[in-house]
Amino acid sequence: MARLAARVADLVGSPVRDMLKVAEVPGMISFAGGLPAPESFSPLDFHEAPAEVLQYGPSEGDRAFREAVAAELGAIGLPDDPDRLLILSGSQQGIDLAAKLAVEPGTRLGVQDACYLAALQVFRLFGAEFVPLASLLAGEGPAPSLAYINPTFQNPTGACAALAERQALAEACQRHDCILFEDDPYRDLDFEPVERRPVASFIDKGSFIYQGSFSKTVAPGLRLGFLTASPDLLPKLVHLKQAADLHTNRLSQWLVLQRLQAPDRLARVDANRTLYRQRRDHFAAELSRLFADLADWEAPSGGFFFWLRLKGEVDASALLPAAIRRGVLFTPGVHFEPFRIGPSPTLRLNFGYVTPEIATRGLTILADLIREDRARQAA
Ligand SMILES: Cc1ncc(COP(=O)(O)O)c(C=O)c1O
Repeated sequence: MARLAARVADLVGSPVRDMLKVAEVPGMISFAGGLPAPESFSPLDFHEAPAEVLQYGPSEGDRAFREAVAAELGAIGLPDDPDRLLILSGSQQGIDLAAKLAVEPGTRLGVQDACYLAALQVFRLFGAEFVPLASLLAGEGPAPSLAYINPTFQNPTGACAALAERQALAEACQRHDCILFEDDPYRDLDFEPVERRPVASFIDKGSFIYQGSFSKTVAPGLRLGFLTASPDLLPKLVHLKQAADLHTNRLSQWLVLQRLQAPDRLARVDANRTLYRQRRDHFAAELSRLFADLADWEAPSGGFFFWLRLKGEVDASALLPAAIRRGVLFTPGVHFEPFRIGPSPTLRLNFGYVTPEIATRGLTILADLIREDRARQAA
């Protein structure tokens, strides 16, 4: 028998990645996954790419690309210095690097009651012990070493933290010597004016990592993200990146640099915002029409997700096999809930990926299914 590392003994696949395979079945309506709308992609022209992108490059990322990203970060209160940036092979890599940096078996790690499941998967792999962020804010119990937050259009709840909450998080992390790890891939998909200032911008003397991604605004297949960090952490993160994959794909960096420098950059971002806002509005209207007696939710002011809490004692996971048989895929909320004991009535629906017509069809099927399940329970 091959002898494996103890850390992989309980390792399981991501339920969302497994579901993406089901989503490929022709005709399947998928509200699962965090996929952007295919209609949001515009063609990328790589014919003009210089030959130098074929060569190995710096681990930190290509200089011109870092300069362009740093200028955008400076505008939102983060370091505008390209030397404070590390380009990532997708922001998922930032989660892996942060875990390698700060998490070992038994490390206390603050997370929200509902948290991005692929972050939970990485943190579990390194042996994290999850503690509610609320206890960090209240100063209860030993402080966590790291607090992972996704305060802007959160995956999975869609929630966007208010200013006071952002300031309180930054203050609590600094007071308790806890590294703030802010994950911010959805910030440019805002549908109305809301507070979006990074929590990391309120840190003046503590340790932090702030990361973003081009997956939701340009294309996830490019696998391109970035992080900036406090000076005590950045050099170690660069060394971990070297050990992981030497550097990020240079063609992706070049392609996105062209996009950042294009005169129509803001117009494209705006067009995507409009596309997703219309899909959010359609979804919200259809939920009100079909789910008013079945679930509670709050419409998100940005990002990709509606988070539904089914009324009554319903186990949302138990509904999934029947939903798949009828051609609809959703993500049961329990996968995002590290503190949940027992079944969960929550589910996450990605409203951004499917067209309004398909959304209506899928939501109708789901509502019918839940209603039938209720009738069966009542009988
Ligand atoms: C909160 C959050 N963080 C990180 C990621 C990973 O994104 P990527 O690696 O494509 O940049 C996602 C993707 O869905 C996400 O929702």
